[in-house]
Amino acid sequence: MAFLKIENLTKKFGGLVANSDISIEISQGEIVGIIGPNGAGKSTFFATVSGFYKPDGGAIIFRDEEIGGKPPETICQLGIARTFQIVRPLGLLSVLDNVLVGAFLRNKNRKAALEKAEEILEFTGLKDLRDKLSNSLTIADKKRLELARAMATQPELLMLDEVMAGLTPKETQEAVELIKKINRTGITLFVVEHVMEVIMPISHRIMVLDGGKKIAEGTPEEVANNENVIKAYLGEKYNAASF
Ligand SMILES: Nc1ncnc2c1ncn2[C@@H]1O[C@H](COP(=O)(O)OP(=O)(O)OP(=O)(O)O)[C@@H](O)[C@H]1O
Ligand SMILES: [Mg+2]
Repeated sequence: MAFLKIENLTKKFGGLVANSDISIEISQGEIVGIIGPNGAGKSTFFATVSGFYKPDGGAIIFRDEEIGGKPPETICQLGIARTFQIVRPLGLLSVLDNVLVGAFLRNKNRKAALEKAEEILEFTGLKDLRDKLSNSLTIADKKRLELARAMATQPELLMLDEVMAGLTPKETQEAVELIKKINRTGITLFVVEHVMEVIMPISHRIMVLDGGKKIAEGTPEEVANNENVIKAYLGEKYNAASF
């Protein structure tokens, strides 16, 4: 049984084909990076897999079940969670309450949900900020909270959309460590990221999108040396020796 199998996924906005015939299979426990230029269709791919958009074609099969077109809450219940490129905390709630909202998905009584939320705050390094209004957080902590909220739903597959954009090098390094730590707990990850120094070392495999199409898939080394990828996105400055 494939963990996640995506076949010919297509999503259009009017005449614009944002995802065109994308196919990929991923195994449980993998970190799969997704790269590509602005407008390549990375966020659309996440939004379609997680149920925020209905596909116009193709299939999304998660643990032998077709989930394409199911509503986001059903897909989240099945074990797929995502973060948003533009962070969306519930600004007037505390950090703890934001995470608690996610924790209620699998913990129906308040005590159990609270325990799960506290555990996630500890895991993501947000414990000391638990009572702060989420609006008042720095961008790095808002990104961390976005991750914590998704983690609180106890996903098997977590999709991270540019959780490291806008962070300082030190904050980026902390985020990388957190992503590796999440993966060590057995969670499979899809990671969209523009910073090559981040995505190349953490990904087991990378899929490259350009103009809505998959133009390459392989190990970081393979995609970094792929002529089409260099042309479409990387330029000449990256090569296998640089990471
Ligand atoms: N809700 C929408 N309605 C119409 N067009 C959209 C919508 N969302 C995205 N698009 C278009 O679909 C294409 C893919 O956009 P998408 O946001 O998926 O790209 P991306 O790879 O995530 O880019 P970035 O790196 O800038 O985040 C773009 O041409 C974009 O303008
Ligand atoms: Mg995007």
